[in-house]
Amino acid sequence: MSKYIEIDDLKRIYKPSKNVSVKALDGVSFSVDEGSFISIVGSSGSGKSTFLNVLGGLDWDYSGKIVIDGKDIRDYNQNYYRRYVVGTIFQQFYLIPSLTVEENILLPLKFQRNIKQVNVKERLEYLLEKTGLTNRRKHYPKELSGGQAQRVAIARALIDSPKIILADEPTGNLDSHTGEAILDLLKSLNKSEGITMILVTHDGKISKETEKTITLVDGKNV
Ligand SMILES: Nc1ncnc2c1ncn2[C@@H]1O[C@H](COP(=O)(O)OP(=O)(O)OP(=O)(O)O)[C@@H](O)[C@H]1O
Ligand SMILES: [Mg+2]
Repeated sequence: MSKYIEIDDLKRIYKPSKNVSVKALDGVSFSVDEGSFISIVGSSGSGKSTFLNVLGGLDWDYSGKIVIDGKDIRDYNQNYYRRYVVGTIFQQFYLIPSLTVEENILLPLKFQRNIKQVNVKERLEYLLEKTGLTNRRKHYPKELSGGQAQRVAIARALIDSPKIILADEPTGNLDSHTGEAILDLLKSLNKSEGITMILVTHDGKISKETEKTITLVDGKNV
């Protein structure tokens, strides 16, 4: 049986100037089971963020193949792919300062034409509760702690119920205690929603808690 995510010989070469080329990904191949929680580790510059950018549909300039649920990601509509297939969270939460917590969570829907309003309200309430932000819903990002800000980013990534969450060092800007709480939240979403989680981390304590760890060295998985 084929796996949920199949990554085959993925390569990404950056050409920042005429005579320079960087093989950021140099033949990455592995597969991921549906609903699993995996981590990607590797030293700085090993290609982790490049990999997540490609898998997240933010960078299409790669060679090799990524198949999700039996379909090459190049064959998905790009907007659909980034909305319903993958959701991404980052180390720097990237919240919009002029929007409240709930407006930030609902932001992805601003770009959507046919919204099912009923479900949106329910989904928002569910996510506010799940992330423990119900009593912060009218707050602005500058009024939040780092852990709260990351929870807003997580809720925003989940508003469209994507199948996969990609997280690039989501605990990197947080103290270890707050980082653990974020990891627990991701674990709980993995279980309760069956979301496949792919998490990049430097922290061995975090990767140890995931079901499988992929190690990148110079753009290759070893
Ligand atoms: N836009 C770019 N143009 C040129 N080179 C780049 C670009 N982005 C990344 N690189 C190079 O590609 C390699 C992989 O970078 P990447 O950001 O994927 O590493 P990383 O594993 O995420 O590192 P870190 O742990 O520091 O975040 C590095 O050598 C980096 O310098
Ligand atoms: Mg990185």
